[in-house]
Amino acid sequence: MAVVNKSRAVKYRSYIKVFVFLFALLPLLQLFLGVLQNSLGPDPAKALAHLSGEWALRFLIITMAITPLRIITRSSEWVHYRRMMGLFVFFYAVLHLLIYCVFLLGLQWQDLWADILERPYITVGFGAWVLLLPLAVTSTKRWQRKLGRQWSRLHKLIYMASALILLHIIWQARSDLEEPLVYVLIFSVLMLLRLPIVKRIFNDRAKKSAAHQH
Ligand code: HEM
Repeated sequence: MAVVNKSRAVKYRSYIKVFVFLFALLPLLQLFLGVLQNSLGPDPAKALAHLSGEWALRFLIITMAITPLRIITRSSEWVHYRRMMGLFVFFYAVLHLLIYCVFLLGLQWQDLWADILERPYITVGFGAWVLLLPLAVTSTKRWQRKLGRQWSRLHKLIYMASALILLHIIWQARSDLEEPLVYVLIFSVLMLLRLPIVKRIFNDRAKKSAAHQH
């Protein structure tokens, strides 16, 4: 099992953070290059909406994978990257909404409200986006201190946001449900790995292997 070497991870943390940050900006570069090179296919606006949504979802999966990784590796090192990953979810979700408003709706705000009220997949997508907003705003250490125990309670909203996002992609998929179902499966596994029994299994295994070494 890959137990992270603590002191080494701490030493290199700031370098790793810069690397992860730059890596997380690559999808943005991909979108820019796609526009500049005109390589986004016959419907670039749709492709941009699709790609930005996919990346917001991928970063959400990475964010939600931090706790299971902490349990499996028995290292809290992963937690230092959660805030950045969560903010990238929000960053790509904001980009996704902007692309939708600018390129798909042509900045017709009344159409946005009509879509939110009339198209269920937009309703739930917007609901998820609204839930992500307070999480991004209160992601700083200062807010964490200020809110105390309420902070963890507030950040449980991520589960509701995830459920709404899954509904958002299932609802728009109509008949082609293969990809959304893969995402449902990934989220289900990430939720199962949070169960106390999983923590117990990995703790017991670590104890056994430590006893073996002595
Ligand atoms: C602010 C509200 C939102 C609006 C108005 C919105 C709108 C849209 C639209 C119009 C599409 C279709 C693009 C296409 O034709 O391929 C789409 C796709 C998608 N959206 Fe959103 N969205 C919203 C929020 C979100 C959020 C918060 C996420 C994830 C964090 C998300 C993830 C996705 C994904 C993954 C797709 C691609 C689905 C697929 O084609 O398989 N959306 N969204």
